[in-house]
Amino acid sequence: MTFPATRMRRLRTTPTIRSMIRETQLSPADFIYPLFIVHGRDVREEITSMPGVYHLSVDQLPGETRAVAQLKIPAIVLFGLPASKDHIGSENFAPDGIVQQAIKAIKDTNPETIVITDVCMCEYTDHGHCGIVRDGQIVNDETLEILQRVVVSHADAGADVVAPSGMMDGMVAAIREALDDSNFGNVSILSYAVKYASSFYGPFRDAAQSPPQFGDRHSYQMDPANAREAIREAELDVDEGADMLMVKPALAYLDIIRRVRDAFDLPLAAYNVSGEYSMVKAAAQRGWVDERKIVLEMLTGIKRAGADMILTYFAKDAARWLAE
Ligand code: PBG
Repeated sequence: MTFPATRMRRLRTTPTIRSMIRETQLSPADFIYPLFIVHGRDVREEITSMPGVYHLSVDQLPGETRAVAQLKIPAIVLFGLPASKDHIGSENFAPDGIVQQAIKAIKDTNPETIVITDVCMCEYTDHGHCGIVRDGQIVNDETLEILQRVVVSHADAGADVVAPSGMMDGMVAAIREALDDSNFGNVSILSYAVKYASSFYGPFRDAAQSPPQFGDRHSYQMDPANAREAIREAELDVDEGADMLMVKPALAYLDIIRRVRDAFDLPLAAYNVSGEYSMVKAAAQRGWVDERKIVLEMLTGIKRAGADMILTYFAKDAARWLAE
């Protein structure tokens, strides 16, 4: 049947009928909120390139996490800025490292909030790469040993989920083995399985003070032109024991989210990254876009593409808007 018997506008006549037939429901339960933790006390410093996102000291975390939980956001993901950087990123696996302190402070006060840790070397190393550097190369297998120490220290401090983001081959298997050997069989792995070498990470590298000091990340992160390769990356991580998968970034990669969703039944996250955030903020500050509407549209699009969870700096604002 076609027009005039069929009229698509019939089901668009009122807000109620539109909400009845809405296919995608965005909810605060979908969100994971990233936090940047720094040393010091009473630090709550806005990140210049990411308005509305802050560097927080550990003492700020109980309050911040309570606010997140009150908005019904179930999880946070932690990024740490160490006191000092060195060649192997020693603070990354120090028992009193910044992220380890943060995990404890959060779990002591808000035990029900899911604490996810980003597991990578770039914030901690003086060269800013996501692996051990030898003769100007990022060496894979030695990096795995460091990542094993990092995840065990995070699990020791109370992390629920570890999220390796360095795109090293074999990282998921190495991490699973290290966790299991240390009796952390219940700590799960959210793998940044499909992570592209993207310019959309620009503001984050400012926030995490983690830009590579030489070269770029193209020898480990994926070529933005490749889609079939995303399936291979995800498949390997599933075989290695990942509990959940991630695609990153989100907006320029909605087709990848859909492909991964269709190919695997694991829970799937998408990272609405810093550049995606800051572009909207900048345009909204100029009055060029309606921030609230554009953010909810983008997050709905990411979910419609197939993401079950969305890591986003908009989490708190979006949760508030959804509750109104
Ligand atoms: C660490 C890491 C990065 C991001 C998350 N984990 C930066 C990078 O790979 O350069 C980016 C997050 C964002 O841009 O919001 N490897």
